[in-house]
Amino acid sequence: MTAGLPTAASAAPLAAAAADQPWRDRRKSAARRADALLNAMTFEEQVTLVTAVEVADFKPLEHLGIPAMTRVDASDGLRGDTGVTAFPAPNALAATFDTELAEEYGDAIGVEARGKGWNVLLGPTVDIDRNPRNGRESESYGEDPLVNGLIGAAVTRGFQKNDVIAQVKHFTVYNQEDGRNTLDVVVSERALRELYYPAFEHTIRDGGALSIMGSYPKVNGVFACEDPHIIGALKNDLGLKGYLGTDYYPYGDRVKEINAGVDSAALIPDTPKDAFTDGRIPKERTRDAAGRILYALFASGAYDNPLPSAPAEVVTTDAHQALARITGERATVLLKNKGGLLPLSKKKTIAVIGPAGKDAMTGVEGSSYVDPGDFTTAVDAITAKAGAARVLFSQGTLGDVALPTIPGAVFTTPDGQPGLHAEFFAGEDLSGTPLTTTTASNIDFRWGNPVGGLPAKWSARWTGRITPPTTGLVRFSTLLAGAAKIVVDGVTVLDESRFIWDSFFGPKESAIGGVTGLVGGRPVDITVEYSTKDAGFYGPSMKLCWQPDSLIPAAVATAKQADVAVVFVNNYSGEAFDRDDLSLPGDQNQLVEAVAAANPNTVVVLNTSGPMLMPWLGQVKGVLQAWYQGAATGTSIANILYGDAEPGGRLPVTFPADERQGPTTYTGGKNDFANGSITYDEGIYVGYKWYDKHRAQPLFPFGHGLSYTSFSHDRPRVYSRGRGDEAAEVSVEVRNAGRRTGSDVVQVYIGQLPTTVDTPARTLAGFARVELAPGQRRTVRVTVSRRALSYWDEAKSRWVTPTGKVPVYVGRSAAEVTYAGSITVK
Ligand code: BGC
Repeated sequence: MTAGLPTAASAAPLAAAAADQPWRDRRKSAARRADALLNAMTFEEQVTLVTAVEVADFKPLEHLGIPAMTRVDASDGLRGDTGVTAFPAPNALAATFDTELAEEYGDAIGVEARGKGWNVLLGPTVDIDRNPRNGRESESYGEDPLVNGLIGAAVTRGFQKNDVIAQVKHFTVYNQEDGRNTLDVVVSERALRELYYPAFEHTIRDGGALSIMGSYPKVNGVFACEDPHIIGALKNDLGLKGYLGTDYYPYGDRVKEINAGVDSAALIPDTPKDAFTDGRIPKERTRDAAGRILYALFASGAYDNPLPSAPAEVVTTDAHQALARITGERATVLLKNKGGLLPLSKKKTIAVIGPAGKDAMTGVEGSSYVDPGDFTTAVDAITAKAGAARVLFSQGTLGDVALPTIPGAVFTTPDGQPGLHAEFFAGEDLSGTPLTTTTASNIDFRWGNPVGGLPAKWSARWTGRITPPTTGLVRFSTLLAGAAKIVVDGVTVLDESRFIWDSFFGPKESAIGGVTGLVGGRPVDITVEYSTKDAGFYGPSMKLCWQPDSLIPAAVATAKQADVAVVFVNNYSGEAFDRDDLSLPGDQNQLVEAVAAANPNTVVVLNTSGPMLMPWLGQVKGVLQAWYQGAATGTSIANILYGDAEPGGRLPVTFPADERQGPTTYTGGKNDFANGSITYDEGIYVGYKWYDKHRAQPLFPFGHGLSYTSFSHDRPRVYSRGRGDEAAEVSVEVRNAGRRTGSDVVQVYIGQLPTTVDTPARTLAGFARVELAPGQRRTVRVTVSRRALSYWDEAKSRWVTPTGKVPVYVGRSAAEVTYAGSITVK
């Protein structure tokens, strides 16, 4: 599937304002101008505006000065363009807890977008990270609604400084990929109001967002884009004055969507035009929808400021590249630093191990993938600092990539012939008499069946023996659309399913598999099973791949020769499928363990989409969470390793200690078409709130991040205010007590509300990032809103603010409190 967004194009310049065209008068408000233009439009023109997708669709509106609306995915840069800046992923931006930086990030993307000829930016994404397995986890701002809201609002403001419309995604409860198009999310109204809506409200009220993109899933049985209740909340309660568009080809009914309040076809050219005239869509609804689009065009400046006549080839600048690097530095989280091993001395020899070159992961694949261009790799950036003589490199692991296809020569069938014995069955559960049997040289088919004569649903089993060339760890993997199980020498190395084998956009493929130890030259049994179950719309696909020669022994030898070993590890993540578990893929855990055993000064750099389990944590001295960093992938890490920059990040997501932690009811169908349903039975207890409620100890708490310096929090004060939306102000004096410049993120949480209604033990109510030189102090102030002290009363359908004393905590993470006090709510 390719999301067929229209290509960038210029809009016709406007003629000078004429007296009979009052909407051209820039002194009038956007609402009045929209109204005036609406009055001048024919009904057909209104329909054209509501249904226009491609640039050419806007042609009939040119005489009214209405520009073509050109749309681009833009959550972390411009998807699909070259000569642009690939910024660190959105969850990396969230880790900065820096709203000023977020606005600059948004502004830079907005500038580049206009340069390329786009005036509608699809983003930012503020979906709550409910489950760290979500394939699009890194596209939004973590698990907390306030962080999503404040960072999302800042990015929105940045975008919209550039006469473009921000279309914030995806309203609502789009929190996983498995089953995404038809999944029914069963969720309480309270959770919607307290968790899933607030970030959108922030982007609208504080960020001025002029458009929202609806989400794919159903909410309590009705598609979000067809539900007047949900859309009513968006427009009436959250305050959207602009328009609601749908996502790309949602599964619902276009007419129902528009009648429920969708205003713009935006990404889907299949809206039936006759529905506007045959009575199915009321005329007032069309007028309202068109009016909302016009409002967004006027309020953003897109109407008054035509796009350049031709898109620029290169829109990235040195300043934007530097901004990407600074974002990466402020986003990188120092999770562990035993004995102060980091920052490294430039005099030490360093073994760089793992995918630290062009093979690093730079971004989440799918509609937020941005071309990083010719970025400086970590190996090069480290070498530039330490000098080539002190840098040793060993690949160690290929990371989470597709491996070579297994050659037929290593297989023998059970009766000793070359290849594998293959049996094909009707149905998806490998039962009954095989329809066909054959000898296969290997397993390699894509978007179609490997043999003729199979029904739509089929399954297969390949059996035989495999003889590896060398002794050691052998990595098996598969590129897959369907369900597969691989058993080698009695060890199940894979038992999973995939909808498609790569994401929609991005250069890499998604391989899944596992490892097992084998002896060179000794044949062992292999059984591979495949079923069309879960295969997506491209059809059955499977390629059986391996890496028979482990790179770990060479990396261990290299690590032994160096003073310090820095191991880069990664995972592939993308739109269209979720992670199956929280383990580092392939042989990367084994690599870290082996290197740590060989070198006591081992540091791990996690170039990952989000949390990973770290079975080796006790064996390594340092861990840096580097996320995906776009063009900054190498430079920011080198600066941090050597202390030329501070690891400024704090976790915007809790890192679980094991697979069972967190609200992980995860029962959606894998297949995009499956009618799965998932119940958010954790209610409002997502992220750190879940850990508090269940008294569970995470691996690393939300908000955690160490520094190269240390801070004290002194003179805490709480000023309770009685009026307006501001309920209290919390202030604290932060002092840099160490010997290096560094930044602290002061986090203010409120405790349980004074009511018998169940409320979280801790809720983030505000945060402030402060950078201080050694010995420097600064008082930071955090405002606590009345909303933060309220809960959604489902029976009364409104916010309730219980009066009395509410605990308030100042801290450095959800688990590290530096001060506890209270707010008096009157
Ligand atoms: C994604 C959206 C994106 C759209 C256009 C969809 O698959 O869910 O986030 O904006 O494609 O690329």
